[in-house]
Amino acid sequence: MLEANNKKVSDQELLKQKEYMQKVKSIVSSKGRPMKFYSLAMGCQMNAHDSEKICSMLINMGYTQTFSEADADFIIYNTCCIRENAEDKVYGKLGYLKHLKRKNPDLLIALCGCMMQESHVIEKIKASYRHADIIFGTFNLHKLPELTYNRMTSGDMIIDIWEEHGEIIEDTSYKREYPFKASVNIMYGCNNFCSYCIVPYVRGRERSREKEDIIEEIKGLVKDGVKEICLLGQNVNSYGKTLAQPVTFAQLLKDVNEIDGLERIRFMTSHPKDLSDELIEAIKTLDKVCPYLHLPVQSGSTKILEKMNRRYTKESYLNLVEKICTAVPDIMISTDIIVGFPGETEEDFEDTLDVVRKCGYSTAFTFIYSRRRGTPADTMEGQIDDATAHRRFDRLLEVLNSGIHEIHSKLLGTTANVLVEEVSRQDEDIVSGRSEHNTLIHFKGDSSLIGKTVPVRITENKTFYLMGERI
Ligand code: SAH
Ligand code: SF4
Ligand code: F3S
Repeated sequence: MLEANNKKVSDQELLKQKEYMQKVKSIVSSKGRPMKFYSLAMGCQMNAHDSEKICSMLINMGYTQTFSEADADFIIYNTCCIRENAEDKVYGKLGYLKHLKRKNPDLLIALCGCMMQESHVIEKIKASYRHADIIFGTFNLHKLPELTYNRMTSGDMIIDIWEEHGEIIEDTSYKREYPFKASVNIMYGCNNFCSYCIVPYVRGRERSREKEDIIEEIKGLVKDGVKEICLLGQNVNSYGKTLAQPVTFAQLLKDVNEIDGLERIRFMTSHPKDLSDELIEAIKTLDKVCPYLHLPVQSGSTKILEKMNRRYTKESYLNLVEKICTAVPDIMISTDIIVGFPGETEEDFEDTLDVVRKCGYSTAFTFIYSRRRGTPADTMEGQIDDATAHRRFDRLLEVLNSGIHEIHSKLLGTTANVLVEEVSRQDEDIVSGRSEHNTLIHFKGDSSLIGKTVPVRITENKTFYLMGERI
């Protein structure tokens, strides 16, 4: 019953927003010239996917997309607050927009996303960035048409931030960056509260979408020409636990694997604390699930992992990697690493390097710890100075890069199936795409190959990407 009610709320709400879209559209068309929007996604894949939904709404409101801010009549930044530099970037850009607004009185500036869920940010914008027009957060994205209409008709700054939202608004219309691959949200929010991380505070509690809704969305995408999908969640391992009829992530994968016409399934992120044997079996046996796993370690030190509230140890992480590699020998594993977490000693950092050497990552996203207001780590003792953190960061990159080079060397002479994404910007005779292992591969070809899966023999290892020849 709960499910049926939620669906009803979602449908009604979307209908209401459609009416607002029409109202905005008539205002936009009365301007007598094409009105353009500029959209910028400043965060993770989830943030980028939200921006695809935003673009679709703006198009339905009568705007056309521009990639130049100076030409735009509507500028929307989907912000991120995972690290301090992400926030600084927004303030910097807002300063520049003031000057654009003077030139174009029709220009509307909208700010949304994770950073807007922080109350100190809203206070700062209200005090110092009065030229922002529409401000909303992560829980009410679907309300953009209504908020835009209110701004256009009232002339006031509109701020609408929700604290939390239990329901999932099922809106699956979005403008995809690529016609042949797409991201699909399977859950929202996070319950893990890693002590350094702001996400649980700005994205709310974990909520899973119904399996049927996800399957239906993917079938629609495949009908539209999509070959590869990436299932998104902050921790996909806990997918489905809170549904009225609980489902495991591996069960979801099995059903997605059955969809005719779909070629590849990827997912992220899988938390090492609760990656099940059932999931390993699914990666091993389901033919469409790619042999690639993003498994963020964050630190190699058991002491630091405990302070991070990650709920695994160095040993259990290494055992897990070994178990996965034994079950799926050709798998490629990537990771996220933070250096300079409070209390990190040289010895702790050596543990991180040790894990990096042992795991043989194919890619890694590396970060210097950034203090986030309101998180437990922000008030921990032993904050690490910048110079030490930077020195460790540079050493980490050295070790990582030599490992990445080594792993990629093993692919020389092998065949990869590359889903071609684009023609190289540097050389129009070269195309690039990703293999089933998520490795970036360049080879000779032209734009007719875009969206096709092409077998390529690997000929050269450039560390972060590979060169190949079409077979
Ligand atoms: N849910 C995912 C990742 C979300 S954020 C997971 O658990 O893996 C992406 C990455 O940003 C994290 O994996 C972490 O490495 C990094 N990160 C998060 N908070 C950070 C902080 N305060 N400082 C530096 N890096 C951080
Ligand atoms: Fe942040 Fe941890 Fe949740 Fe990932 S699992 S989003 S790092 S709190
Ligand atoms: Fe993503 Fe940044 Fe939010 S990483 S979830 S956009 S804080």
